Amino acid sequence: MTGERWQLLPDLDPEEYEALKADIAANGLRVPVVIDAESGAIVDGHHRQRAVEELEREGVKVPEYRDVRLFADDDERLAFAVGANLFRRHLSRGQRSELVARLRAEGWSLRRIAGVVGVDHKTVAADLSEIGENSPIEVPERVERRGGGSYPARRPTVAPGVVVGRAQDERRARQALATLGDEAPARTLNLRDAERRARFADYQRMRSATEPADSAGGERWELRAGDFATVLDDLDPGSVDLVLTDPPYTDEFGARWVELSELCARVLKPGGVAVFYAGHHNLPEVIFQLGEHLAWLWHIVVVQPGQESRFMATHVHNGHRDLLAYCAGTYQPRRWLRDTITVTTAADKSLHPWQQGLQTPAYLVDMLSDPGGIVLDPCCGSATFGVAAIDAGRRFIGVDVDPVTVGVAADRLREVAAGTENGAAS
Ligand SMILES: C[S@@+](CC[C@H](N)C(=O)[O-])C[C@H]1O[C@@H](n2cnc3c(N)ncnc32)[C@H](O)[C@@H]1O
Repeated sequence: MTGERWQLLPDLDPEEYEALKADIAANGLRVPVVIDAESGAIVDGHHRQRAVEELEREGVKVPEYRDVRLFADDDERLAFAVGANLFRRHLSRGQRSELVARLRAEGWSLRRIAGVVGVDHKTVAADLSEIGENSPIEVPERVERRGGGSYPARRPTVAPGVVVGRAQDERRARQALATLGDEAPARTLNLRDAERRARFADYQRMRSATEPADSAGGERWELRAGDFATVLDDLDPGSVDLVLTDPPYTDEFGARWVELSELCARVLKPGGVAVFYAGHHNLPEVIFQLGEHLAWLWHIVVVQPGQESRFMATHVHNGHRDLLAYCAGTYQPRRWLRDTITVTTAADKSLHPWQQGLQTPAYLVDMLSDPGGIVLDPCCGSATFGVAAIDAGRRFIGVDVDPVTVGVAADRLREVAAGTENGAAS
């Protein structure tokens, strides 16, 4: 497959092309070049890429801007290329007829062609008859695939994608999407998120082949494998001093924040605090859901100097993490709490792809609970917050839906508990 395979529309005329190139030289790429993750071919942006390369040869450096997409098949690639081109281009009658014929030859229904080209299906049929194919106006509900099977004629196409800002990151984006495969979410990710998800997918595949470890830690800690909404039913109401948790920030976690809010309201002691690590992209929704059963307390910011990440979708250099603090009932302040925590070391990621650092939970456990109290993390991953709790002489209860992760966490806590018993700080 070559890049030209997806160049569906005729070349821009020289004047249009020079205008595009001048705009790119002055303003950079406003629209990313879209790359097929599987083959590396350009699916959309042939002219933009050509302009960037020419400018480079002329000594003008244009920052790269690529959107690497994982398509299910050629049909999806084609649909994307058509949609992306038509979004920006006005076609002459002749160009439209040519495109209609090409799509028809690919097996598209009249209705689907009409939808994507932005005309009604009678116009599509008229275009076809003009260039020789005297097609009856039939509008099937489903389109047969050439390789077998069928799909709805109006199927929406949202291929998972990764936007990168440097040509050398394209390979990493393709690799991450290849690792994710069917687990890639149908939206655009930044490279860091895609690689993190890929590592996690890899890790889960690898880990699911091993036996979970014993997860009973005696008096000092306990881990449970399962969904937080079901495996904590036996926890006494009002028995927990502090909930400290870092749930998945993904859209798939969806409405589960409200369930976390409900759980915390039930198990926390009156006036007990729950602190949630939260992602940036859906913060208003998370705040809304957590407020369902808990009272808002404060917003804590963790500053991570030198650990900036770039969010391509919004073009934001992000250097902080948001923690949301809530209370079960009325908050009774006992100590002065800092709402800005500066961490000085990067988190180790050797036990979990989303493993957090210890500095922040150590501070929060110290400020928001007392020795001997119970700290609960209902989405505990590698139990970093359990380490902070045990180190500070609290009891810890952790839950993770993934039994293999629970095994990793159990090994970690057993080691930490043994270390603190021997008087060693971890
Ligand atoms: C962001 S990670 C936590 C990382 C952890 N703070 C650490 O330092 O390792 C979120 C964890 O929540 C777990 N999880 C997701 N849905 C869950 C559910 N419904 N019940 C319990 N755990 C869940 C995931 O398996 C994942 O390990």
